[in-house]
Amino acid sequence: MTMSGLLTPQSRNVKVFIKAFRQTRRARYSSVSSQLNIRSFISENTEIVGEQSLTPEVKLRLFTPNCRFWRERPELWPFDDPYWAIYWPGGQALSRYLLDNPAVCRGKTVLDLGSGCGASAIAAKLCGAAHVVANDIDTVAAVATHMNFELNGLEPAVCLSNNMIGSQPEGFDLILLGDMFYEEALATSLHNWLDRCIRTQGTKVLIGDPGRAQFEEHGIRRLLRQLAQFELPESVREENYGLTCSRVWCYHPEL
Ligand SMILES: C[S@@+](CC[C@H](N)C(=O)[O-])C[C@H]1O[C@@H](n2cnc3c(N)ncnc32)[C@H](O)[C@@H]1O
Repeated sequence: MTMSGLLTPQSRNVKVFIKAFRQTRRARYSSVSSQLNIRSFISENTEIVGEQSLTPEVKLRLFTPNCRFWRERPELWPFDDPYWAIYWPGGQALSRYLLDNPAVCRGKTVLDLGSGCGASAIAAKLCGAAHVVANDIDTVAAVATHMNFELNGLEPAVCLSNNMIGSQPEGFDLILLGDMFYEEALATSLHNWLDRCIRTQGTKVLIGDPGRAQFEEHGIRRLLRQLAQFELPESVREENYGLTCSRVWCYHPEL
């Protein structure tokens, strides 16, 4: 994953942070997970935050400089890369857009694909979506999403951990993609699958992205229509060095 940023005051950027976890990923996840209470682990190793994002009305359990694993040796982390512990700028813009335009979600069946902490799924639910599914291939993200739904006073989340990209498109009215165009291969498989969803189901697709190179240079980019642009809060800029704003796009292959 290519991220550029600087997480102050420890001067650890998001890229280094995630890379460190990736390098020390171990096969001990399954054995440890069966022993650990993942909920307790998340509670103990994250902090409830909200005010400093683009969606201060959404509370989330995230990694912050006050958390042990911000500084701790990554090899002690027992799970996969904790992408769910970061509220990515693309997801922030997408969630802000939904909260500002609740009619987009109201009464709809919504899929938040690559949901991470579940923020965009939460925003959809807060806007009155009839059904919301949070999908992330990281099973720990599902636990974090459940906790974040509770934190925001919502009924239990519906979380799926299978890889839906390439699967038979289901009846979603709206698919949300926050910061999902960070690898070329993933972007291309997403592009193909989204085309199928739109063609066979008439699904609406919204994408949040802060201008990552893998997104800007991908073929899907010229097929998008910009819906909104948000200046990133100062703290988010500091954490994501080089990124200053994040945009929301609507994808329709015929555009
Ligand atoms: C950069 S994070 C974005 C998280 C969230 N949407 C946000 O904006 O805060 C990307 C997420 O996509 C998930 N992911 C990667 N490939 C996936 C796939 N094929 N299906 C579902 N989730 C996937 C990762 O586990 C990670 O949580």
